[in-house]
Amino acid sequence: MPGFELFGELEKQEVNDVLDNGVLMRYGFDGMRKGHWKAKALESELQNTFQSKHVQLVSSGTAAVSVALGSAGVGAGDEVIMPTFTFVASFEAIMMLGAIPVLADIDDTLGLNPEAVEAAITPKTKAIMVVQMCGSMANMDALKAIAEKHNLLLVEDACQAIGGTFNGQPLGSVGDLGCFSFDFVKTITCGEGGAVITNNEKYYTNANHYSDHGHDHVGSDRGAETHPFLGYNFRISELHAAVGLAQVKRLPEFLDIQRRNFNIIREALSTIPEVVFRTVPEGGVESCAFLNFFLPDLETSRKVIEAFKNGGVDACWNYFDNNWHYIRKWDHLKNLKSLFPISKEVKEGLEYLQTRTFEKSDHYISRNISCLIKLSWTEEEVKQRANKMAELIKSVL
Ligand SMILES: Cc1ncc(COP(=O)(O)O)c(C=O)c1O
Repeated sequence: MPGFELFGELEKQEVNDVLDNGVLMRYGFDGMRKGHWKAKALESELQNTFQSKHVQLVSSGTAAVSVALGSAGVGAGDEVIMPTFTFVASFEAIMMLGAIPVLADIDDTLGLNPEAVEAAITPKTKAIMVVQMCGSMANMDALKAIAEKHNLLLVEDACQAIGGTFNGQPLGSVGDLGCFSFDFVKTITCGEGGAVITNNEKYYTNANHYSDHGHDHVGSDRGAETHPFLGYNFRISELHAAVGLAQVKRLPEFLDIQRRNFNIIREALSTIPEVVFRTVPEGGVESCAFLNFFLPDLETSRKVIEAFKNGGVDACWNYFDNNWHYIRKWDHLKNLKSLFPISKEVKEGLEYLQTRTFEKSDHYISRNISCLIKLSWTEEEVKQRANKMAELIKSVL
């Protein structure tokens, strides 16, 4: 997945453009720039890539989720339904707005289970946040129908699924708002960065102002701009955007390599009857950033992970035992460990975490193995790796 594996001349050239004129900030300083607007140029590229009318770059994927929700009016006391399997940032981004994360089970897509979502809806629910984990997607038709039926916002976190599609639409562009991360380990990277995409002009304008202290960005005198509402600083810098601009131009090349490597490994593992690949909803095409499969039980999964480690197969995980991507080990959140006081409303709203269990999620996550697909492997290396993986799995079964 990581675009950094293939850094090259284009990235250096884009960064040097910025260093040559010395304008590291994305807004203002028009005279000094010598025509270089890297963040603007990246936004324009991303409009094409994600087939979205509007793109607002921000400082991270976590910021993108907060900005997307905030721009659509989600705030204090509102409930946002999110999956049990995601990066911990989903929870954080909701909390940052004073809203309440309501966790719902996943299914064999490794994304939100539509039935669990429907059961989690209350009068306080404002949004469903679907997280397109590990390069693929949840059952988007069902989730869209639920969002429409209950008049809820559908926010798509596609941070891990750059390049995946559903019914021909890029992931991230299926919901009302989409969020992306360009941190160091994503398919295209800025070092740190993120984006909010939407076809809704109002949400975009809100995101644009909110992510820059409420600046209305009218005119060319930044100090004279007005501030229609409260905002914060989630800006991306020109240096980060410059790296992303080079990377996005190379995205088709990255995705081709990723797909080739993914297919080689998938084919080798498909000869093993006990290996069951994750379900990809009809109409969905994976980005191939990860290959995910289920084994018969947790014990077998743990043994396979151990065998991979000892056998030199890196970058494969069983998320049941992972501190960052699954509710099971989020004790700091279950126990509301915070540096500062949390509102009564949020505290009460999160009481369910003390007792709620997520058996359906446990069922899938305990048996799942998730393997990162790297870009820097040669075809020969992938073939050797694929055979090794198949051999090691068979040795455990
Ligand atoms: C699904 C998901 N959402 C959000 C984020 C947060 O992105 P960032 O690291 O850019 O804040 C990540 C990062 O790994 C992620 O995987």
